[in-house]
Amino acid sequence: MTARQPRLPPGYRLLCYDSIGSTNDEAKHLARDGAAEGTLVWALEQTAGRGRRGRAWVSPRGNLYLSLILRPDRPVGSAAQLGFVAALAVGGALRATRPRIERLAYKWPNDVLINRRKIAGILLESETVAPEKLRFVVVGVGVNLTASPRGTEFPATSIMAEGLGEVMPQAMLEEFVAHFQSWNMRWQAEGFAPVRTAWLAAAAITPGEPIRVRLDALAWCGRFLDIDKEGNLLLDCTGETRRIAAGEVFPAA
Ligand code: BTN
Repeated sequence: MTARQPRLPPGYRLLCYDSIGSTNDEAKHLARDGAAEGTLVWALEQTAGRGRRGRAWVSPRGNLYLSLILRPDRPVGSAAQLGFVAALAVGGALRATRPRIERLAYKWPNDVLINRRKIAGILLESETVAPEKLRFVVVGVGVNLTASPRGTEFPATSIMAEGLGEVMPQAMLEEFVAHFQSWNMRWQAEGFAPVRTAWLAAAAITPGEPIRVRLDALAWCGRFLDIDKEGNLLLDCTGETRRIAAGEVFPAA
């Protein structure tokens, strides 16, 4: 199916699919059946790829689609921080495979941009056993290597479209896992602080910048203040600070 099998660090178990509906759906199914932390579902294409907020993630061959099962022994409320961990891992993998990359940035909560266009998206899905205990978290990652959708609300791009040549999915997968492992270990050992610092150092928006944050049924306009110590976005709406746990950021209209 591929030129060669990806090499992964100890503790990871790779399940490769030529074509699948959604790697996240498969990973959740496996996690419910008891699959261990480190189980990684990888597909060359998805026929029912899913994005955040119920959107479709168009998934032709050539891009990277993976879902990783984690069982972190951390409070339920900290699960969203894994989106930042995964975004940093994607950023590290992009820099490792394409050192010429410029203008790589992170867009809250967990998109990766190149030249202000989205090159990768992350879909976190989790289940709990008790109100305070995570049963599992599935970290789904899509990276546009050769193709990106047109006409999306937020513009998209790919490695190829940026003139950065060809990167094979298995090479990106190997780099992603290596970087994820290292950031995940830091997160487990030191908490969110170093992750937050690294993420903010390459954030797509800077403090004071006017933005619009869309939640399910409404949108807030204001100036970006900061990402707090839990990963929430702090927005200054004419003097009132709003703390937003989940949403979609756009430039102010
Ligand atoms: C987003 O909306 O930005 C998140 C996109 C996440 C897409 C990935 S591709 C691999 C995994 N399987 C899915 O169905 N979705 C995620």
